[in-house]
Amino acid sequence: MSVWAVLAAAGSGERLGADRPKAFARLGDAPLLAESVTRLDASDWIDAIVIAAPPGWEEPAILLTEELGAGKVTSCVAGGATRAESVRLALAEVPEEATVAVVHDAARPVLPEEVVGRVLAPLSEGWDGVVPGLPVADTVKRVRRDQVVETLEREGLVAVQTPQAFLAPVLRAALADSGEASDCAALVEARGGRIKVVAGDRRLLKVTTRDDLAAVSAYL
Ligand code: C5P
Repeated sequence: MSVWAVLAAAGSGERLGADRPKAFARLGDAPLLAESVTRLDASDWIDAIVIAAPPGWEEPAILLTEELGAGKVTSCVAGGATRAESVRLALAEVPEEATVAVVHDAARPVLPEEVVGRVLAPLSEGWDGVVPGLPVADTVKRVRRDQVVETLEREGLVAVQTPQAFLAPVLRAALADSGEASDCAALVEARGGRIKVVAGDRRLLKVTTRDDLAAVSAYL
């Protein structure tokens, strides 16, 4: 079994208000991207890594992986206008023989090794994909502008994170449909794929704002 990681790092990160793409915002002494690259490279589960970098930032991303000595990074492509497009472009660099693709957001720098193991295990039990999820603590409502339209029943809701693991051919087929979604699992679900949820991890917090950078630093 060969396991390839696709690291989605091409977002602009406008909400962070930095003068550079989010993947290159500072987290401690290094760019945000360094943390997830280092962790994926050190993972016993991962064989190779492809990075979708912000367009125009491929060169700095490659230099960073060299500095980090991240030998599993095989290529770095310019990402697309949406997350799905970035994953699609990176997956094109993953060889046909790959059995499993693990898609991870660079915006979730603190990637615990045990979560990688958790999302991979069920793939040998007939699942098409596996996502980490956490129970939702807040009440979730659907709104239109400032008016509540519907209150969702909290029971049965999970907040889904990355890394998400898929049988590589299944993910490839789902991405070929050129659909858009905020995670890859949704594209697989849309084609009738079976996705399992395993326990997520609070440390997999997604960096969106400056406050998130501070919160994530506490987990380093
Ligand atoms: O913008 P959002 O929070 O959904 O981004 C999640 C992840 O997807 C981030 O790691 C970001 O770098 C990545 N992304 C991407 N290409 C885009 C948009 C987001 O790789 N066009």
